[in-house]
Amino acid sequence: MKILILGYGKMGKAIETIALNSGHEVIGKITSKTNTNIPTSADVAIEFSNPESAVANIMFCIDHKIPVVSGTTGWLSHKKDIDLYCTQKNGTFFYASNYSIGVNIFFKVNQFLAEKMKSQGSYDVEISEIHHTQKKDSPSGTAITLAETITGILPFKKEWSNIETHDPSALVIKSKRIDPTPGTHTVKYTSATDDIDITHTAHSREGFAKGAVLVAEWIRNKKGVLSMDDFLNF
Ligand SMILES: NC(=O)c1ccc[n+]([C@@H]2O[C@H](COP(=O)([O-])OP(=O)(O)OC[C@H]3O[C@@H](n4cnc5c(N)ncnc54)[C@H](OP(=O)(O)O)[C@@H]3O)[C@@H](O)[C@H]2O)c1
Repeated sequence: MKILILGYGKMGKAIETIALNSGHEVIGKITSKTNTNIPTSADVAIEFSNPESAVANIMFCIDHKIPVVSGTTGWLSHKKDIDLYCTQKNGTFFYASNYSIGVNIFFKVNQFLAEKMKSQGSYDVEISEIHHTQKKDSPSGTAITLAETITGILPFKKEWSNIETHDPSALVIKSKRIDPTPGTHTVKYTSATDDIDITHTAHSREGFAKGAVLVAEWIRNKKGVLSMDDFLNF
């Protein structure tokens, strides 16, 4: 398979290694300095750039009929517009805030736990996330996915906040930036009598890169707006 890598930073390089080891060909490695004359003959594009470039990169792929797998975080206020654009153009667009298979199982555990906590008003809940200091967005896209699942289920949590607050209806997300952490997320329920914590700890970027290459192989002949739920058949 011919792969175009849009965003050749820490993730792009990890994706290249996995793609080459899986027998694929990398036909372009695009950075901010090489984003003109982008090759359009790719079977699939994998996009891990930055919040300012993601929308243009994804639209470029849709316009050139290249199925695109994006993992860039921090641009999701435009996601609905991109989904619509993809549908109108009969394109292929896959987005996940986290490509680690383990994290996607963790998302399901988070959902299950929130369902069980729905009627347990004596518990409060908060999320914490730790990443390396070069991460541009805060909170992480993964923390937002965890938070939006919880606020969608718990009647006593209305919205998430990245700032400490005493408002009981706010779900606080605490973000820390400590090198070289690839990504650690904890959801913690606390009551006067006990705590329940669930934590996912990434050991390296390899899990995200492997997931992105597996998804790229899977979407090659598919159409539409797709997600991890479709890929993992959850
Ligand atoms: N979904 C997931 O599983 C997952 C996992 C890890 C990270 N991420 C996200 O993936 C993104 C990339 O992370 P990273 O750690 O690889 O960041 P990074 O090391 O900063 O790399 C970003 C890359 O994007 C390039 N870039 C900038 N403008 C571009 C443009 N217009 N077109 C194409 N490429 C452009 C940069 O080029 P220059 O060096 O020239 O600026 C750089 O090569 C972030 O949003 C991060 O949060 C997602």
